[in-house]
Amino acid sequence: MASGESFYVTTPIFYVNDVPHIGHAYAEVAADVLARWHRQRGNDTWFLTGTDEHGQKIMRSAIANGMEPQEWADKLVDEAWRPMLKTLNISNDDFIRTTEERHESRVQRFLIQLNEAGYIYEDEFEALYCVGCEEFKPESEIVPGEGQYEGQKVCVIHSKPMELLKERNYFFKLSAFQDRLLQYFDEHPDFIQPASARNEVVSFVQSGLHDLSISRTSFDWGIRVPWDEEHVVYVWVDALLNYFTAIGYGDEDGQFERRWPANHIVGKDILRFHAVIWPAMLMAADVAPPKRVFATGWLLVGGEKMSKSKLTGIEPQEITDTFGSDAFRYYFMRAIHFGQDGSFSWEDLSARYHAELANGFGNLASRVISMVKKYFDGEVPAEVVAHVDDEALLEIARTAIRDAESAIDEFAIDRAIAAVWKLVDALNLYVTEQQPWVLAKDEGNRDRLAAVLATATRGLGVLAVLLNPVTPIATGRLWGAIGGEGDLGAIAPVQALDWRGSGRVGDLASLFPRIEQES
Ligand code: MSP
Repeated sequence: MASGESFYVTTPIFYVNDVPHIGHAYAEVAADVLARWHRQRGNDTWFLTGTDEHGQKIMRSAIANGMEPQEWADKLVDEAWRPMLKTLNISNDDFIRTTEERHESRVQRFLIQLNEAGYIYEDEFEALYCVGCEEFKPESEIVPGEGQYEGQKVCVIHSKPMELLKERNYFFKLSAFQDRLLQYFDEHPDFIQPASARNEVVSFVQSGLHDLSISRTSFDWGIRVPWDEEHVVYVWVDALLNYFTAIGYGDEDGQFERRWPANHIVGKDILRFHAVIWPAMLMAADVAPPKRVFATGWLLVGGEKMSKSKLTGIEPQEITDTFGSDAFRYYFMRAIHFGQDGSFSWEDLSARYHAELANGFGNLASRVISMVKKYFDGEVPAEVVAHVDDEALLEIARTAIRDAESAIDEFAIDRAIAAVWKLVDALNLYVTEQQPWVLAKDEGNRDRLAAVLATATRGLGVLAVLLNPVTPIATGRLWGAIGGEGDLGAIAPVQALDWRGSGRVGDLASLFPRIEQES
């Protein structure tokens, strides 16, 4: 991708009915790694996240906690959702709340536009609604209940009974977009990823689309339908529009044209909203669909989707308090194949932390730096005579850069890290095989010793550049300790080999100290 291109990446906006768990944190970290990578490339990057604050689910959780919905949302945003971003070292450029005026006014403007274009009509409606999903459920997602709900029909996702709603609603003519959507999917094979997600959406649309109820009258915690104050806008229509309102859709300042289309990272349970309803809304407004909708899998605990309502939620801080934010970010990005489900376990986290971060990466950095100190008085050797072994290592670095770059283009974050880890392993092997501590015993090997430590330091520089989007705290410290020049966050991955190692090394406290497990 050429430098300077626009890269607009978003996470879902999260319901403020509860505090975040690591399933929510996962999308934040993934979007953050992509955003940091693109910023390093020099792309015109914009990273949006935020909170989804209207609808019955939030209203009920507020009531259950004895508060007004706005007060409840303010409390959760301030005490839980914004702090999560800090805990995970997230570099978002904006944070949108759907209760903000900038959002509400633009949602109303958008609806007026759809109405004037003839895509909205009023009708009587009766269907089963799941408040957990904030969705009228299709037959295919209604299953027989178990346990306390034996004999009742429940939502397949929340395992709870639904509510029968009968109202006059406004409808969006979603069914009118079936052919255009299928044609769009066909012409843009990368629009929905991974392939399994794409196939699911294509067959869903092929099986026929129904018009979508987009307003409600039985409660008032939402944005008013501008031409009919009795109705509030359906929470999903309100929420999807955040990707628009945050970048000033309909304004004249050029922000929107500069950023759009977006790359959406979403959980697979909310894929259809993003890959069917959202692009249809955009087509109705004559705007280009998003560039990409990438569906992530679920974090599983004991084989089930982790969720607060099922009491399996783990808060991000439970992990970062012990392992730190870098390790959190690394672990989830590395251990889970991006786009598939992944099981979380403390044992796996601890094993990878020690084997990969502490031993593989951290020790390597400490060893190389301490040898530069010991044998060259802290001065990184420059102008060395290249040797075939050094060239071989640099070739591995080039491959790592190339493979990581192309993996990031496909949002294959785990593959990008695996590509970089080939260099971590190769560097460890290089140091072991070259045995600088043996070379150091003979003054006649001085040039060779210089070449080995110069090459190894340069290799560390490449690792600092490539791993910076994933473990920014550790790489920032490493870059400082090897005397790296310039702002690490602005060094393009393709230029990771440009810095050849020069100047002095400094002190480096262990990047990933060993953690004694209490168990
Ligand atoms: N508010 C809507 C999204 C609106 S986007 C215009 C919503 N919010 S949510 O808080 O319920 O979920 C947000 C995201 O968290 C979803 O993508 C969902 O898939 C994800 N996750 C919730 N639990 C999860 C796991 N256990 N594992 C991974 N992601 C999970 O839906």
